[in-house]
Amino acid sequence: MAALLKIGHRGAKGHVAENTLASFEKALEMGVDGIELDVHVCATGELVVIHDFTVDRTTNGTGEVNKMTLAELKHLVVDGHYEIPLLSEVMTLCKGRCFVNIEMKGRHTAQPVSIFMEHLVNEEGWSYDDFIVSSFQREELLIMNEINKNIPLGVLTQASVTQAWEWAQEFSAKAIHPHYSLLTESNVKKAQQAGLKVHTWTINDKEDIERIKGYNVDGIITDFPELL
Ligand code: G3P
Ligand code: CA
Repeated sequence: MAALLKIGHRGAKGHVAENTLASFEKALEMGVDGIELDVHVCATGELVVIHDFTVDRTTNGTGEVNKMTLAELKHLVVDGHYEIPLLSEVMTLCKGRCFVNIEMKGRHTAQPVSIFMEHLVNEEGWSYDDFIVSSFQREELLIMNEINKNIPLGVLTQASVTQAWEWAQEFSAKAIHPHYSLLTESNVKKAQQAGLKVHTWTINDKEDIERIKGYNVDGIITDFPELL
């Protein structure tokens, strides 16, 4: 059994404002093996790292991410200090330092994400083993799989491990990413026996982490990397 992948959720969300370069740096300082982030396409076509479909909750602005230009988004302030980062800025920070789990949160992200990941592999020295592209959205995963079968995929689910498993077979995904409440020792083992990695989220309680570690999952995503 390979070592458990310790993954910082939106960076180190429990310590520094989520999905900021400072949060990713904090997670790295705390010794994570990987970080998780959320990506959307903005109105001018760039890939930006932010969780919600609007900027309202996490910045001093209002509006829909996919209707705002990069200049408008970069003008906003996250938690009084930080910028909304580009995916490229996060990947530069992480290069050679950690694994990256890129969640396609927004719509129409598969094509630009695939182009960008190909660029990283072909021009910037990244390997397809250095990252995974995950999503709850079947459509985005399907498109990604059609465009480039080398890009490792993770099927996110909050509803059903069985469904995630079926989709994973359909897209030849590398991993399933179920919410931890869906896991049993048995369904983890079955997924792994079928060749899938199991990365689970978002566990912020020490007892839950110890219980889920006992299922021999391949990765745990947490807001508090120190708990791992
Ligand atoms: O990738 C796991 C987790 O991030 C999915 O949920 O809402 O935090 O993006 P959410
Ligand atoms: Ca996410």
